[in-house]
Amino acid sequence: MSLLIKNGRVVTATDDFVGDVFIDGEKVHTLGKNLAMKADRTIDASNRLVIPGSIDPHVHMELPFGGTVSSDDFKTGTIAAAFGGTTSIIDFAIQYKGKTFQQTLDDWDAKAEGKCAIDYSYHLAVTEFEPRHAPEFKKVVDRGITTFKIFLAYPGVFMIDDQTMFRVMQSAGEAGGMTLVHAENGVAIQQMIDMLIAQGKVEPKYHAQSRPPVMQADGVARALRVGAFAKSPVFIVHVSCEASMNEIVRSRDEGHASFGETCTQYLFLDETCYDKPNFEGAKYVFTPPLVPKENIEPLWKGLKLGYLQEVSTDHCPFNFKGQKELGRGDFRKIPNGGPGVEDRLSLVYHGGVVERGFSLNKWVDICCTASAKMFGMFPRKGTIAPGSDADIVIFDHNRERTLSAKSHHMNCDYSLFEGMKIKGLPETVLSRGKVIIEDNQYKGRAGEGQFIKRGACAQM
Ligand code: URP
Ligand code: ZN
Ligand code: ZN
Repeated sequence: MSLLIKNGRVVTATDDFVGDVFIDGEKVHTLGKNLAMKADRTIDASNRLVIPGSIDPHVHMELPFGGTVSSDDFKTGTIAAAFGGTTSIIDFAIQYKGKTFQQTLDDWDAKAEGKCAIDYSYHLAVTEFEPRHAPEFKKVVDRGITTFKIFLAYPGVFMIDDQTMFRVMQSAGEAGGMTLVHAENGVAIQQMIDMLIAQGKVEPKYHAQSRPPVMQADGVARALRVGAFAKSPVFIVHVSCEASMNEIVRSRDEGHASFGETCTQYLFLDETCYDKPNFEGAKYVFTPPLVPKENIEPLWKGLKLGYLQEVSTDHCPFNFKGQKELGRGDFRKIPNGGPGVEDRLSLVYHGGVVERGFSLNKWVDICCTASAKMFGMFPRKGTIAPGSDADIVIFDHNRERTLSAKSHHMNCDYSLFEGMKIKGLPETVLSRGKVIIEDNQYKGRAGEGQFIKRGACAQM
């Protein structure tokens, strides 16, 4: 099957021209003006942007967490992602106590295989790393998993100690990989949580009060210093505040391979969401929590100037009814996480390009290309070039619409961005040459998404 996309404005992280893209099977074959090739199908992309399929490198499908399971599985979550112009996701395979790395990845394979609408991979989240685990590390890398995740939060659940942090970082670096860190001071935060509960402070807003920016920045600084000590690249996930971003900038300035992402929720929402009545603040209980509004512009600026490399969602949805409600009367029991995988590309277009004058190249970079490079998928993913996978989004940048749970495809009964008016819609989406979203319908088959074997991580 061949496909010709004609007359679109083709934008990658570096290029921008009006022309055609010829796709042969699963791969991009040729780019140019007025291509004369005959194709099985031609799509007119006039007045549309033609960009690489976007990548969300931080999602949690079907994650058992907080006494329940995140409400999107690999099928519903990847279909929703496809509607939003995301053609690759990276989930987190989390090692449960007593499991080897291989068993952990096998468990995640069992959850994902045969279900995904788009291509997928996982970071391996290490919670135990004893010397007996060391020989397995290379096997994980050989399996195409080159990124490792550690938690400096959630004591008693996922949190690791500094010895484990050092071991993971050193092994990841030696293998050409990278360590992703959920960075907070989990121990001090736990003390604050206990104090708040003892004082009867149980509403959702106390989740935010228990883990303020200063405790995130503390975790970030520690992780980056241990990374420098281990001579290994470190990537800080879900940076929500300026103080943490500044730690990354300082560390880079000192010459270390230190990187970070932020997420859509931190670019648009602030801590006042916790004041919503009728327990609705629980919808915004994720970790790290929303922070004071003054942080929003610095995060956008950080993306523009390259202090942060990309935007993910940390998609980890729980329905309000029956799941978030578990924490009525005790914020500790509200499952941590929110929905987002469907809205990222459009939100960053709206907030970045429309509202703040980001270049189209920058938008593509932070939504598509940087993640492909940093997480070992470039140039197969993240660009439109001869030989790259034909993951392509035809984006109607003039379409105005309103985000709502009524129209989204995520398996979640609320939207973090309910009622927000934005510009931009991923109109047609291709996954490896096949049209999977068209006319506001999913045209693919769950299970067509393939595991992406990733390689060494680029240092940006
Ligand atoms: O609240 C969140 N972010 N839930 C998912 C797990 C994590 O910390 O990323
Ligand atoms: Zn996290
Ligand atoms: Zn996460």
